[in-house]
Amino acid sequence: MDLGITDRVAIVTGASSGIGYAIAKELISNNTKVLIAARGEDHLQAAEQTLGQLPGARVASIAVDVTNKDAAQRILDKTMDSFGAPDILVNNAGRAHAGGLLTSSEDDWEEMTAVKLTSMRRMCKAAVPFMQEKGWGRIVNMSSIGGIYPNPKLFISHVLSAAINNLTKSLALEVAADNILVNAIGVGAVKTDNWARNMIPFVRKNNPDLADLSDDDLIARISEKCTPVRRPGAPEDIATLAAYLCSARNNFVTGDTIEASGGADRFM
Ligand SMILES: NC(=O)c1ccc[n+]([C@@H]2O[C@H](COP(=O)([O-])OP(=O)(O)OC[C@H]3O[C@@H](n4cnc5c(N)ncnc54)[C@H](OP(=O)(O)O)[C@@H]3O)[C@@H](O)[C@H]2O)c1
Repeated sequence: MDLGITDRVAIVTGASSGIGYAIAKELISNNTKVLIAARGEDHLQAAEQTLGQLPGARVASIAVDVTNKDAAQRILDKTMDSFGAPDILVNNAGRAHAGGLLTSSEDDWEEMTAVKLTSMRRMCKAAVPFMQEKGWGRIVNMSSIGGIYPNPKLFISHVLSAAINNLTKSLALEVAADNILVNAIGVGAVKTDNWARNMIPFVRKNNPDLADLSDDDLIARISEKCTPVRRPGAPEDIATLAAYLCSARNNFVTGDTIEASGGADRFM
């Protein structure tokens, strides 16, 4: 299916690995010009180099922490310099945080809010005026199924996911008449670096009976238990949906949080 986004300009935050990288790849494969952003320069440069080898690729990068106050402006400036004004924004930077209300700290709350929610608000605020000028725009915000089915052991992540779903709906209503469509993806368990760093220790702690299993066997066992399709998601599973939502093929879906979780209605 031709997504109709040839020569469109896209920004993907958190695109040096995992889901963001897969989305950048999918957009480039659909002839979109893509600016990728993340903090770690080495990973980012490696991602830019690999993506740059795709046929006809047009990709640029900026090393930036999206929690910094000037990050949105820096990302917009770099996009303008590289490719022109943005048509597509994918707010994907972030990670999971394991802990309940009683066991997470003030710093955890502030840091996670900054990376997941505040940065998203700032990025939307910076990019939307350009989309309004063009009379066309697509935004995808990375949320989690925990925004609808909260797991108290992932309290901060899931409260913020609910807020992302609400931000998405509210902005979608605000800009619908400008032909800017805004959606969120309620991601289920997808096997990425974030998972290895944040979720495996969490799952091990909550399933002491599975302590002897390797990481891969543990993921396989938990996926069979919690995910009706009986496997964890792959970044590409999310990228295909994100690319559709960002495309000219999507003309009527807006304000929605679409679950991509292999049928799961709980997060491990
Ligand atoms: N995988 C899952 O099961 C799952 C489930 C629900 C929701 N999600 C959400 O999906 C998104 C992508 O997750 P993933 O699993 O693909 O994780 P990942 O593989 O760890 O990728 C996260 C990306 O975000 C970047 N990033 C993190 N903090 C950043 C910051 N402050 N500023 C700029 N870039 C930052 C990382 O690069 P640097 O560290 O170098 O900055 C990396 O490029 C996240 O928002 C996550 O919360 C994932």
